Amino acid sequence: MLHFPVLLEESVEFLITNPDGNYIDCTFGRGGHSQRILKKISSQAKLTSFDKDAEAYKFAQQFKASNFSINHESFNCLSKHFDESSIDGILYDLGTCSTHLDNGERGFSFMRNGPLDMRFNTKKGQPLSDWINTAPFEEILNVLYEYGDEKHAKLISNAIIDHREKQKILTTFDLANIIEDCYPGKRKKIHPATKSFQAFRIFINNELNEITESLNQAKKLLKKNGIIVVISFHSLEDNLVKSYFKSHKVEYPKDIPINSIENQEFKCIAKKIRASKDEVSINPRSRSAIMRVFKKL
Ligand SMILES: C[S@@+](CC[C@H](N)C(=O)[O-])C[C@H]1O[C@@H](n2cnc3c(N)ncnc32)[C@H](O)[C@@H]1O
Repeated sequence: MLHFPVLLEESVEFLITNPDGNYIDCTFGRGGHSQRILKKISSQAKLTSFDKDAEAYKFAQQFKASNFSINHESFNCLSKHFDESSIDGILYDLGTCSTHLDNGERGFSFMRNGPLDMRFNTKKGQPLSDWINTAPFEEILNVLYEYGDEKHAKLISNAIIDHREKQKILTTFDLANIIEDCYPGKRKKIHPATKSFQAFRIFINNELNEITESLNQAKKLLKKNGIIVVISFHSLEDNLVKSYFKSHKVEYPKDIPINSIENQEFKCIAKKIRASKDEVSINPRSRSAIMRVFKKL
């Protein structure tokens, strides 16, 4: 299946404030947002996209516009490429593409069998199978609690340890079956491995740290009135983004009479924007998308 870009019109509408400006798409994927940005900007403007996934990078080679370039890198190295106060808008459309989930070989989905990998960049770090067959019980437990909010984290961690003592966990179905077999209660609509797979993906790709590192750079690269648009797909990402911009208030001593809005480096100009019913009916994945937009003051 193709990847349907989520909140496409809404995000690009917020992002582009100057058709001749300089823009960054941090998460190229299959280029849905990049393509729309290129349609809206002039030939003098520039779009630089990033993706740490080799397939996304390869896909981007079809984009021939002279004002477009793609980097096969994580979005946590933005500052290597741009000067401070040089960018008009930065877009993040976080998480996985449908193409990751549909390809069993990438090891992202409990619905498709394949090697238990789950890395966006398969040349860096370790596949999930290496970690899950060696990590101590407490580490597995923490990942499931912290990144999956999984209430049966203990049961699952124990089942993983028991299983790997007899046989290595090598495929997505190995892991999904271990979780399904130990999960208490009646099987509900949502697969019992949903939260665990999310947790392991976030951990193995160091996702939350890379978002924070990238935002630290993005806020310096933006010009005054520059825009950051973030589309998140779960509450961990969304809470991180929300609290990141809250925590960047400039603190003035109490006796200086400046009101709280003037104290902020960023103003939130749109919060908790969700996909329309029409969009959700065409693309069910958009149901969990939440968009926030911030303007540099
Ligand atoms: C939801 S998809 C983006 C879809 C894209 N907006 C489109 O319309 O086709 C997210 C993409 O971000 C990439 N990604 C995830 N973490 C990344 C990171 N730290 N740096 C760069 N790319 C990342 C993934 O490989 C994936 O292709």
